[in-house]
Amino acid sequence: MIRSWRIEDSRQSMVLVSRDEHLPEVIYWGPRLPDGDEDAVLYAAGQLDVTGGMLDLNPELSICPEATRSFQGQPGLILRDGEGHPLLPKFCFEAAEADGSDALALIYRDQSGELTYTAHFAIDPQTHIITAKAVLQASRPVHLHWLSAPVLPAPQMADEMIDFAGRWCGEFQINRTAWSAGIRYRENRTGRTGHEHFPALIVPERGATNTRGRAYGFHYGWSGGHRMVAEELPDGRRQIQFGHAARMEYEAMTRFETAPLYAVFSDDGINGCAVSFQRHVRDRIVSFPKAERPRPVHYNCWEAVYFDHNLPELKEIATRAAALGAERFVLDDGWFGNRDDDTRALSDWEVDRRKYPDGLDPLIDHVHELGMTFGIWFEPEMINPDSSVYRAHPDWALGSEDQILGRQQKALNMAMPEVREFLYERISAILSAHDIDYIKWDHNRVLPMPDAAQTRGSYALIDRLRTAYPNVEIESCASGGGRIDFGILHRTQRVWLSDSNDALERLRIQHNAAIFLPMVVTGSHVGPRTCHTSGRQMDIRFRAWVAAQRHMGFEMDPRELTDQEAAVLQHVTRWWKANRTWLARADILRLESADPAVIAEQQLAEDGQRFVVFAGKADTSAQIVPRPLCLTRLDPDARYRIELLNREDAVGLSRGMPALKSEPIELSGQYLMAHGITLPWSFPETMWVIEGTRL
Ligand code: DGJ
Repeated sequence: MIRSWRIEDSRQSMVLVSRDEHLPEVIYWGPRLPDGDEDAVLYAAGQLDVTGGMLDLNPELSICPEATRSFQGQPGLILRDGEGHPLLPKFCFEAAEADGSDALALIYRDQSGELTYTAHFAIDPQTHIITAKAVLQASRPVHLHWLSAPVLPAPQMADEMIDFAGRWCGEFQINRTAWSAGIRYRENRTGRTGHEHFPALIVPERGATNTRGRAYGFHYGWSGGHRMVAEELPDGRRQIQFGHAARMEYEAMTRFETAPLYAVFSDDGINGCAVSFQRHVRDRIVSFPKAERPRPVHYNCWEAVYFDHNLPELKEIATRAAALGAERFVLDDGWFGNRDDDTRALSDWEVDRRKYPDGLDPLIDHVHELGMTFGIWFEPEMINPDSSVYRAHPDWALGSEDQILGRQQKALNMAMPEVREFLYERISAILSAHDIDYIKWDHNRVLPMPDAAQTRGSYALIDRLRTAYPNVEIESCASGGGRIDFGILHRTQRVWLSDSNDALERLRIQHNAAIFLPMVVTGSHVGPRTCHTSGRQMDIRFRAWVAAQRHMGFEMDPRELTDQEAAVLQHVTRWWKANRTWLARADILRLESADPAVIAEQQLAEDGQRFVVFAGKADTSAQIVPRPLCLTRLDPDARYRIELLNREDAVGLSRGMPALKSEPIELSGQYLMAHGITLPWSFPETMWVIEGTRL
């Protein structure tokens, strides 16, 4: 006997079938099935054969594969009882609760009656994201070693998988790994999302590109470190598991749940996944205190002054930043305790009266008079051994006495209620005494060991602060992009994508991050002329346009700008402000560039009436003149007016006359997608900006 359920929207169908009351298998996930295919027939049709050397029946690759049912790959659940003995549950159907084909809860009970496994699925018909989560309940406390979110199959017609690595100043590096027998296993034991381990996977089918073909996308929305298992079984079937990194629950408990796994099928390339993730983050995950307020242009003083805070100087910087177009001034690290460098004072969250004798008000008032709002930096989960709070409460630090420090600091134990209470009070004292609308929330070291209770503690603190200060936005930073995931984005409004303000690095990092992140949450700042983290010198035009691709800001010392540089920055900032409303709802489409030296994207308005293309020249090209750049998702029959916005940037070595160099042109969507736009020759480290309007 079988039971079956479907999760479906206009794009995709996911069919789950359970036999003999066992946990169900996802027997189909792909393009929406037409009416008429019966689940029982699909199930029978998809049964794999059996030959020599195999068991007499193929064990189920269920949503939580069980070793007790002869499954020989990675199980979906590993646990022990309170005494440490392995528990080997066998789950049987108990109940199902469905809300049409949009939401489903499947409840299964272990034969002993002591364990309940529940899988939750929901599909969003607008964004097409499927959210899946597993919950395990026990009648007595048990130790959890591993619990996967509901296990999904990976397609057979895929040769490779894409996941993400990175480092400080080099986030979102793409790894392509060939599928082969065995496991691709990512385990992040750093205790935070990490630069190195963005928790996601893309499985493109053979031949899929950014703009064409089928692809499957997965993201695990959790900030404490994850495990991913992408396994090909000896019979060729493939499973994808995502959960918290293994063994990060230290206490025996009666309830565990995974974070949400966000999954999507796309039949129009990796961009189909990207658009779903971007929209889901923007419209379902992030909540902006004042949704109608356009994203303000930021100024952040970190790379201008570091720890050297001096009120008259900061006021002058603020004045110049406002003149450039900034609308929010963010005071970074160095305003509290005796924080003169990064060896001390974390946790001493009281204004440093040596630097601010009359408190923060003189600076905040000045910033407000300039028409900007005020933001401030905290690194709440951290403590320096050289701090008054540590001297009073050394037991508040997480991990052993003799642990290796990171940036001379320890993490606080966020599972301790008194630690959270202390932080709430200190942060509250600053927020309630001042008109502050923004926190840059940093996290500059990995944990001494992964601990799920730490992440839950951090989430609880942020949630409490957000309830008390609903108008304060929060930026998630962890030495740049060390804590970017949909779990943290549930409670924050922006991510500091990278500590690299090197526009060239940023161009690539932004490009890859756009598979998941919309413009509105992705911070991008114009850095100093000589980049502090790479030593590269870059032209202000390139720096400005790269920042204008996302949520724009400035981070250089504005006193270093020449008049010409300031004018460029003002110009690009004016452009960004004039366009930010539609850009905030646009889809970022990664273009397939025929020239690997060009990293290009098209931001297409929600109504399809306009777009902007950013074509960044990251390197010199192999061929001598630019290859045409094909656009995407236009109406082939419509006509578009195309204009090279910064055509005055063409250099003397560009001697020919591609039409765009001298005037706007009108072309069909078909031509623009099939042949592409032909751009003038350019130097590396430059950006062409092309605006398009549907006629
Ligand atoms: C690391 C962040 O990524 C930087 O932007 C800056 O806020 C420093 N921490 C401050 O210590």
